[in-house]
Amino acid sequence: MASQAEQTQGDTMGKIVSLCKRRGFIFQSSEIYGGLKSCYDYGPLGAELKRNIAAEWWRSMVYERDNIVGLDASIMMHPQVWQTSGHLAGFSDPLVDCLNCKERFRADKAPRAEPGSQAVFATGGKASGQKQSATVTAKGYVCPNCGSPVLSDERQFNLMFRTALGPVDPLADLTKELAGQALSAEKIREMIEEAVRKTAVYLRPETAQAMFVQFLNVQQSMAMKVPFGIAQVGKSFRNEIVTEHFIFRSCEFEQMEMEFFCEPGSQKEWLEYWRKERLAWYHRFANSKDGFRMRQHAADELAHYSDDCYDIEYLYPWGWGELEGIASRTDFDLTRHAEASGVKLSYFDQQKNDPATGKPGWRYIPYVIEPAAGLTRSVLCFLADAYAEETGVDADGATKTRVLLKLHPRLAPYKAAILPLVKKDGQPEMAMDLVAQMRKLGLNVSYDDKQSIGKRYARHDEIGTPYCLTIDNDSLKDQTVTIRDRDTAKQERIAVAEAIAVVQRRLDGDV
Ligand code: GAP
Repeated sequence: MASQAEQTQGDTMGKIVSLCKRRGFIFQSSEIYGGLKSCYDYGPLGAELKRNIAAEWWRSMVYERDNIVGLDASIMMHPQVWQTSGHLAGFSDPLVDCLNCKERFRADKAPRAEPGSQAVFATGGKASGQKQSATVTAKGYVCPNCGSPVLSDERQFNLMFRTALGPVDPLADLTKELAGQALSAEKIREMIEEAVRKTAVYLRPETAQAMFVQFLNVQQSMAMKVPFGIAQVGKSFRNEIVTEHFIFRSCEFEQMEMEFFCEPGSQKEWLEYWRKERLAWYHRFANSKDGFRMRQHAADELAHYSDDCYDIEYLYPWGWGELEGIASRTDFDLTRHAEASGVKLSYFDQQKNDPATGKPGWRYIPYVIEPAAGLTRSVLCFLADAYAEETGVDADGATKTRVLLKLHPRLAPYKAAILPLVKKDGQPEMAMDLVAQMRKLGLNVSYDDKQSIGKRYARHDEIGTPYCLTIDNDSLKDQTVTIRDRDTAKQERIAVAEAIAVVQRRLDGDV
């Protein structure tokens, strides 16, 4: 049976998922057809939240710095990119089939069990009640679904989605060639693989590679001097064996990655710098700093080309998990792409002496520090950080629970809601006028005259609107509004102009 702590964590996740659907943040993809596994659509408010997170990342990485520029590369790239980066050969996870319940799972994520011990599991489904036991093999794990140690061999499953570019049918000629031939299944499979590979292109599994292959174009066109960075926000695709925890691990997701090119030998210093910068960025927008921690990779976790790596982890409702990786990637990527393409992906520093010869001018392949964040994963992190329930007693003495999203005003879908108390007496007109003034200032605000004022407050608490500005009869007389703060539920009567200034000050981080 789940412990109380586990139940609470499960409950919180369930409540967030339900709020996301009820309030238009995130829907199951193709829901009317039964949904598509692990694919999600961002509804009107989810699209705003995601855009706001990406915009804040872009602001902090690109707009606030002289030495970082942006890129928006195509999702499909030359297949040689993935050959060179190592993704075609090595971007795979160990896939195992359970021979009892037919579950497919990742060996490296399966529940561990002592080799030689007896594992008890149900045959014919969990409800059947028929128990059986078998010995745990040297693999040291069991099926995550039924607990059986009777499993297939592990095979490497490449996570990249493969497709074809252009009006080609890779199997047309092959079908003719194969007709009437008596070949083994293995041979046919090999021939199909070969034919498909010739025309194959892949959906990118990370945005990073475009920054490496466009290194020279960006550096030269923008006259960038090392150290400098290239930033990108965009979709990535991984055919994950196991998708989990709502949008945490999905097959289609978005990343916010930046490749920072620096002088060889300076990478440790820059890794420290980016670790601090990125953690501070999450802290700036979160309610609880305790929800974040930095974990250094152990030596056996490091990719072969990496000399150091950290994960920023977040305490999700089910426990700690990765949010962003900050890797020191040495000169691996540029070196590999330079070798494979024949294009010199190096940098010439006229101001420095070559350390090898002592002569003026130094040509080198830059080292790279890569802060790689998940945008869709950040949406989940900020939703979990913001989700709160407050129980109190209302004016009639009844106990009520208030659900609210304490989103940072910069991330909140609406910066304010403008609410006419009644739909008459000039109140809607005055509210619309206020809406127009605020929209002119670039603020995304909501005009809301549906249902009672209490229900409107509750709705805006639940979607994270930091302020409600209510227009009533007095507003028309003296140009004042009631401003209600989402987090404290306190209401104040202030001048309209002051209310706009309060909303703006919070966005500027002054309050
Ligand atoms: N270029 C390096 C790179 O892609 P990664 O650790 O594989 O590194 C970076 O991915 C970030 O992308 C992760 O920290 C995570 O936030 C996000 N991410 C990776 N796979 C994901 C998935 N299947 N679903 C959602 N987010 C994912």
